[in-house]
Amino acid sequence: MIQKPRGTRDFFPDELEARRRVEETMREAVSRWGYREVSTPEFENLELFTLRSGEGIIEEMYAFQDKGGRDIALRPELTAPVLRMYVNEAKVLNKPVRWYYFGDCFRYERPQKGRYRQFWQFGIELVGADSAMADAEVMAVGYNLLKATGVSFELRIGDLAMMRSLLADLEPDLQKKVRACLDKRDYGALEELGLGGDLAGSLTALIESKTLDDAFAITGSIPEEDRIRETFAIVDAHEVQYAQNFGIARGLDYYTGCVFEAFAENLGAENQIMGGGAYRLAHLFGGEETPSVGFAIGFDRVMVSLGEQEVKRPTTVAVAATPEGRIFGITVAAAFRQAGIRTIADLMGKSLSAQLSQAAKHADYVVVIGGREAEAGMVTLRNLATGSQQTISLEEAVAGVVGSGTR
Ligand code: HAM
Repeated sequence: MIQKPRGTRDFFPDELEARRRVEETMREAVSRWGYREVSTPEFENLELFTLRSGEGIIEEMYAFQDKGGRDIALRPELTAPVLRMYVNEAKVLNKPVRWYYFGDCFRYERPQKGRYRQFWQFGIELVGADSAMADAEVMAVGYNLLKATGVSFELRIGDLAMMRSLLADLEPDLQKKVRACLDKRDYGALEELGLGGDLAGSLTALIESKTLDDAFAITGSIPEEDRIRETFAIVDAHEVQYAQNFGIARGLDYYTGCVFEAFAENLGAENQIMGGGAYRLAHLFGGEETPSVGFAIGFDRVMVSLGEQEVKRPTTVAVAATPEGRIFGITVAAAFRQAGIRTIADLMGKSLSAQLSQAAKHADYVVVIGGREAEAGMVTLRNLATGSQQTISLEEAVAGVVGSGTR
């Protein structure tokens, strides 16, 4: 038996319907803020991803040469593709651009619960606005989006300027090590790096600081102070609930200012359900230097966090016909479908009683059609919940089901 590739999943109808519902909730939530959907190819030139992150990232990607010898990668995320698209068309776009996307991404990772090799991201990119209002809007959209799905989470907000100001005097190599410790929240290892003065102590104090005043007392005044205070004040005005956290290190060489992450409260190790921040990528792809801010939600992790959900079946009609009623049955089924009702007919030539017992399993109504009904242009409509039935015209039967309110 052939199996699916490692780290991928099949989705049966119940699960897929649950996913579609959450996806729809997210679409509605972002469109209320004026974000419109874009779509990019699932594969891109490899360079699009190595330009920013270096060759090291190839290890974590599905990268290959195509038959024309081009270096190609399956997209590991959508920010770079969306910014490439922006740069390609930038001249004719009205700025700022508010875009959202929902698409699958591919990472060559060790699979576990909540971590897959094919997974879906729902994200937004706000391109071309450099303001506290812009940063705060994106955080507020992310917060409201997650809220709308019903997931329980904590949003943490920080800004890389704080950490950068403390690390400014360190050699780049040592900075990297510090960042790695912070990313893993391994404060013990931080102490062991032998940082001069009381840098380790300052970093820990910064990470643990609960108010902006406390944090700026540690860093001293920095040029970004006003902007950071303004952003936090606007986030408050959006009534976003969050925890201040200046320990968020999210790839310091990618993000340029605010950074934020959300964590689901009921997931294990892979509990980060959203990540984002302010960045500049457009100039790397041949465009003008363009401030941008965005986030991506790990859609699959949101689904894991929401758990099994009951899928409500739409009102279903089964058409059960004798051989003499079968052809009229096709007209009957068409009339119900035309009215928007899910209608299923027997395809196996089963006896009427076998059709009725089958219908009892998956339908709310059964329409029985024998030779007599076919001749008279009537149908027998049985309500499977109450057992009541009546022989009526097709129009009356359709109207009865439509008006039953169970749709
Ligand atoms: P990221 O943190 O690499 O950021 O990914 C965003 C989210 O995707 C994560 O928080 C996680 O929920 C989900 N995710 C990542 N890898 C996997 C995986 N293997 N399986 C399941 N879910 C996963 C980005 O991708 C940036 N592009 C976010 C961004 C947008 N920054 C600015 N704009």
